[in-house]
Amino acid sequence: MEQKTFALKGNIIYTKERTRFEVMEQGWLVCEEGRVRDVYSVLPEELKGIPVEDMEDRLIIPGLTDLHIHAPQYTFRSLGMDMELLEWLETNTFPEESKYKDAEYAKKAYEMFAEQLKKSATVRACIFGTIHNEATLILMDLLEEAGLHTMVGKVNMDRNSPDYLCEPSAEASAQATREWLKAVADRKYKHTRPILTPRFTPSCTDELMELLKEIQTETHLPMQSHLSENPGEIAWVKELCPWSEFYGDAYDKFGLFGGDCPTVMAHCVYSGKEEMALMKEKGVFVAHCPESNTNLSSGVAPVRRYLEEGLHVGLGSDVAGGSTENLFTAMSQAIQASKLRWRLQDDSLKPLTAEEVFYMASKGGGAFFGKTGSFEPGYEFDAVIIDDSRLIHPQPLTVKQRLERVIYLGDEREVYGKYACGEKIL
Ligand code: GUN
Ligand code: FE
Repeated sequence: MEQKTFALKGNIIYTKERTRFEVMEQGWLVCEEGRVRDVYSVLPEELKGIPVEDMEDRLIIPGLTDLHIHAPQYTFRSLGMDMELLEWLETNTFPEESKYKDAEYAKKAYEMFAEQLKKSATVRACIFGTIHNEATLILMDLLEEAGLHTMVGKVNMDRNSPDYLCEPSAEASAQATREWLKAVADRKYKHTRPILTPRFTPSCTDELMELLKEIQTETHLPMQSHLSENPGEIAWVKELCPWSEFYGDAYDKFGLFGGDCPTVMAHCVYSGKEEMALMKEKGVFVAHCPESNTNLSSGVAPVRRYLEEGLHVGLGSDVAGGSTENLFTAMSQAIQASKLRWRLQDDSLKPLTAEEVFYMASKGGGAFFGKTGSFEPGYEFDAVIIDDSRLIHPQPLTVKQRLERVIYLGDEREVYGKYACGEKIL
């Protein structure tokens, strides 16, 4: 589709590097064919005359990426948060996810999810559905309609799951995945993509992992899953896969750990040296989910170490482990968790800064979708207009100070407008 050249004028703030904000007060952010042409303090002569939307004193930030969220869990966010991972899955998560067998329930619940995600500062997201094909297609239809750019997965689970949420065999799970992919292809979505989604090693037999790799070899689809979230989970993986050297190896043995196909792993709270080295080698993304890691008493991931090692790191809300889709909350909680970790666990890893968490939520996680999450030339034109006038203050503040306050105090009420690839979606 041909897109006109236009500019947004306002207080532009973004990160190229994780150590500092780039700020342009009352600058022009120019979009050309859906991509960023550049940021200008004065509009160049040859661009005079292009349409300009004046955002006045508002902030203009890159669209944010939620690298890990469970759409069906939106219904029970903030409920039953007094358990650790495995008990929480059995008690709360699996019973709720089984309801999505009913397309009518799925439609009702997913409409609410898509509507809320649309209102948030999130432009891109990696999303888990359930094992149900029909419900997952309903979810994808709604996300496409919302204009969001997402990767959505029909979940695979063929073991250690209750009868009401367990696919009958590896073969049946793979077959259902193929049928789902066929239905997705027929729909010809513009910005809703499928992603392979084995729930986690305890839910998937070796045979299922092998079949998913076969599908990946044919389709080159990306993959999302969970990794090294909780000590009980990690011990269980060791029992289930005694041949594995570490948890990540239980994916890697099947060829499902990055390399040619983009892969994102949620949590990585307990990834050791070897796991970290393999993630770096294979380009596996870490989805850091601080609120979930607190709520489920999982622990605090050594995010600074991952950043210093040069791993790809983004943020995830992990609803319903996390209680909200609001990525500003994920940012402030990432800072707060890192401070407790530094004080209580390991003072060699300094707490995260506002610049670093903003970088992770924009350019860091955005890299999973290509060139997104920054306003450097050639990046996809994903932008969020922030109106922070609700967050009153008696004195004038700098643009950076205003963004810092949004990180701690902001939610969808501050989201005034939103663009994805140059298209206005809110
Ligand atoms: N590990 C396997 N499934 C889940 C899930 O739904 N949420 C979280 N946080 N971890 C998981
Ligand atoms: Fe999760």
